[in-house]
Amino acid sequence: MNSATVTTPLGQVDTPLLAVLVPQGGAVPASLAELDRATGGTIGRAYASGDYKGKKDEVALFYGTGVAQRILLAGVGKPGDVTRATLRRAAAVSAKRARGLGVPRLALAVLPEARNGLAARDVGQVLTEGASHGAWAFTEMKRPPEEARLEVEGLTLVTTAAEEKETEAGRVVGAAIAEGARYTRWLQMLPGNRCTPTFLGDQARDLAARHGMTATVLDLAAIRQEGMGALLAVAQGSVEEPRFIVLEYRGGGAGAPVVLVGKGVTFDSGGISIKPAQNMEDMKFDMSGAAAVLGTFEALGRLKPAVNVIGVVPSTENLPSGTAVKPGDVITSHLGKTIEVINTDAEGRLILCDALSYVRRFKPAAVLDAATLTGAVTVALGQVATGVMGNDDALVAEVQRAGERAGERCWPLPLWDDYRDLLKSDIADVKNSGGRGAGTITGGWFLKEFVEGYPWVHLDIAGTAYTDAEGPHQTRGPTGMGVRLFSEFVLRRAGA
Ligand code: BES
Ligand code: MN
Ligand code: ZN
Repeated sequence: MNSATVTTPLGQVDTPLLAVLVPQGGAVPASLAELDRATGGTIGRAYASGDYKGKKDEVALFYGTGVAQRILLAGVGKPGDVTRATLRRAAAVSAKRARGLGVPRLALAVLPEARNGLAARDVGQVLTEGASHGAWAFTEMKRPPEEARLEVEGLTLVTTAAEEKETEAGRVVGAAIAEGARYTRWLQMLPGNRCTPTFLGDQARDLAARHGMTATVLDLAAIRQEGMGALLAVAQGSVEEPRFIVLEYRGGGAGAPVVLVGKGVTFDSGGISIKPAQNMEDMKFDMSGAAAVLGTFEALGRLKPAVNVIGVVPSTENLPSGTAVKPGDVITSHLGKTIEVINTDAEGRLILCDALSYVRRFKPAAVLDAATLTGAVTVALGQVATGVMGNDDALVAEVQRAGERAGERCWPLPLWDDYRDLLKSDIADVKNSGGRGAGTITGGWFLKEFVEGYPWVHLDIAGTAYTDAEGPHQTRGPTGMGVRLFSEFVLRRAGA
C-alpha cells in the first residue's frame, strides 16, 4: 500500500473516501464542526438523530456531502481509553470498509478529541499499520470475479502543518512494518503444497537480495553435517527436504545481535501421532513464526536501523510415513542432549531446540523465538494474547512492552522448576511431551533445556497467529502476529 502525508484542510481533501476517526459522544465534536458545515450539516444530522455515537468499531457512511466522494466516520470509543491500539484498529476498520466499497484509496484523519494526547509520530505510525492491516486480503488463488473489486492501494494521512514532520516520520515506520506484515500474512496463507521448506529458503534468499542482506540456507546434507538430529527426526517422514535458514542484517557495527527464531513447520499433520481431520488444514499456518521472522526482515530492510539482527528458521514438514520418527524413538539433538520422542506431534520444540543450540555461535544480546507451539496456549489465553516465557525477567518485560506498543499483547506463564519434572524420561535426557497439564509451560521448559549462555524469550503464538473469526478490522485467516512486536523490539534496541 502506498502512503503519503498531507496538510490539506479536511473539507478540501480530494479522495474517494475520507475516513475521520471520532470520539464517542452524543454531539458533533468541536473540531468536526467545520467539516460538518462544509457538508451542509449532514454529519450533524446523524448525531442529532441519535443514530451515530462514535462507539468503538461503529461507522457511518455519507454520500453527496460536497466533501470528498464519501465520508466515513469511524468511532474509537471513549476518548480517555484511546491508545495506539485503538487508533490502529479504527484505521483498520476504515480500510476494511474501503475495501468492501471497492475504492482504490482512502484518506485518514484523527480528530484531536479522539487521540487522547498521543504523539503525532505514534498516530502516523499506527494509522498506517492499521490501514494496511484492514485492507489486506488474499485473492490470488481464485479466478478473478466478473466484476473485479479494486484493491485499496493508496493511503493519505491528513494532518496539520504543525504536525506534518512527526506524522510523516511515523508513517515511514508504519509503512515499513505494514509491508513486513503483509508479506508475513501472504506467506502464512500460502498452502503447504506451495509454501514448502524449499520455498521458504528461496524466499529468504530473495528477501536478502532485495535488501542487501545475507541469507544462508542449509539443505539436507548441510543439516546432517551440522548434526541437527532433532530437526532431521521431524523431517525424515517427508519427501520434502528440510531447510535451515539464516538471515543476517548488519546495521549495528560490532554490537551483539538480536536473534529472532521462527518455527517453520510448513504443514503439521502430527506425524505418526496423527492429528484429527477436523481443521487439520489450518496446520499450514504452522510456519507462522517463520513468516513473522521473514516479515520482520522485510521491515528491517526498509528501515535500516542501527542494530544487528539475525533471523533463524528451521523448516520442515511433519508427516507420517514408513520413514517417519516414531513414539519411543530416542534422538540426539544438536546440543548433544538426547530426547525421547513421546509424541511426534510435539515437533515444533524438536526443530526449535536445534535452532536454539545453533545460535550460540552468534553470542546473542537476546534471542526471541516465535512458534505456534501448543494448542494449550489458546486454552489459557484465547486468541487475545500470546504466551510469553523466558530465562530473564527483564527481557520478558521488554518483550511485553514491545507487544503493548505493537498491539500484539503477550502474557507471561511461569517456568518454575516444578514443571521440569514433567519432562523426565526413563531412557533419555528429556522427553518431548509432558502430558496434558500445563502444556504451554512444558513446551517452554523443553526449549529452555536447550538455551545456554544468552537471555531468551519464547512466544507461543498458536492462539494469535491466525483467526477463524471475521472481524470488523481484519479478515479471517492469518494475522501477521509477531512482525509488529519484533519490529518494535528491534527498533527500541536500535534507539530509534
Ligand atoms: N502446531 C501444533 C500446535 C497448534 C495446535 C497450533 C493448534 C495451532 C493450533 C503443535 O505442533 C502441536 O501439535 N502441539 C501439541 C503438543 C503436544 C503433543 C504436547 C499440542 O498442542 O497438542
Ligand atoms: Mn504438532
Ligand atoms: Zn506444530
